[in-house]
Amino acid sequence: MNVIRLEETDSTNNYAKSHIGNLVDRSVVHALRQTNGRGRFNRSWVDLGDGNLFFSIVLKPSEYFNSVYTNITQYACLKLANIFENYGLNAKIKWPNDVMIDGNRKISGILSETVIEAGKLKGIVVGIGVNLNCKKDDVNNIKGRVATALNLETGSPVNMDKFLEEFLNEFFADYDEFLAKGFNYIRSEYIKKSCFLNKDLSVQVLNEIKFGYAKDVNASGELILETANDKDLVLTIGDIL
Ligand code: BTN
Repeated sequence: MNVIRLEETDSTNNYAKSHIGNLVDRSVVHALRQTNGRGRFNRSWVDLGDGNLFFSIVLKPSEYFNSVYTNITQYACLKLANIFENYGLNAKIKWPNDVMIDGNRKISGILSETVIEAGKLKGIVVGIGVNLNCKKDDVNNIKGRVATALNLETGSPVNMDKFLEEFLNEFFADYDEFLAKGFNYIRSEYIKKSCFLNKDLSVQVLNEIKFGYAKDVNASGELILETANDKDLVLTIGDIL
């Protein structure tokens, strides 16, 4: 595997996007420090010090866009949850791609971005941040969400290189099969690990908040919300509040 190791960068996603022409399919950009990490919805992803994980996987499945590519973040999230389980944690998925320990503490984040030039797909950048080795006060100070870190959950320091290798092996083990079969290939496993179904939810969708009962995740990975007037809302993007 082509792993590019950087001491420091602003964001591994930025690095991967700006070097996309020179990076082969399945390259990984890993940085020890990130000065301007980005999250979903223009949020930032703060570097909480040495021993935390920031990396981006560059994928070049084809020159043309396929709807299954929008599900890669969900696939990555399921694979992360599997790894946390291997460390003995109760990892749950919050739609679309957050892993929550015991369903209520965020431990990692995924930001996927696509690079398209002249109508052609240059690549997909799947950026992943994992709180591996944090101080309790630092995770408690993260604004807007309850967070945790793997070392705080297991009670011992985590070897970053080992974790990254375990994750990449897990990710690529059935990546080709996932691309061929789509979200349906992982749907039942994704649902089994979910912590948001069969509940009343508020979901931020762009500038609006939608309310409804989380009924299902369909074969395309969309969230089905049953609303007060018994109509189903099908959400492709959003942030469960
Ligand atoms: C989120 O939960 O909002 C997604 C956070 C994604 C953070 C990772 S860290 C590595 C990669 N580089 C970035 O700038 N962001 C992603």
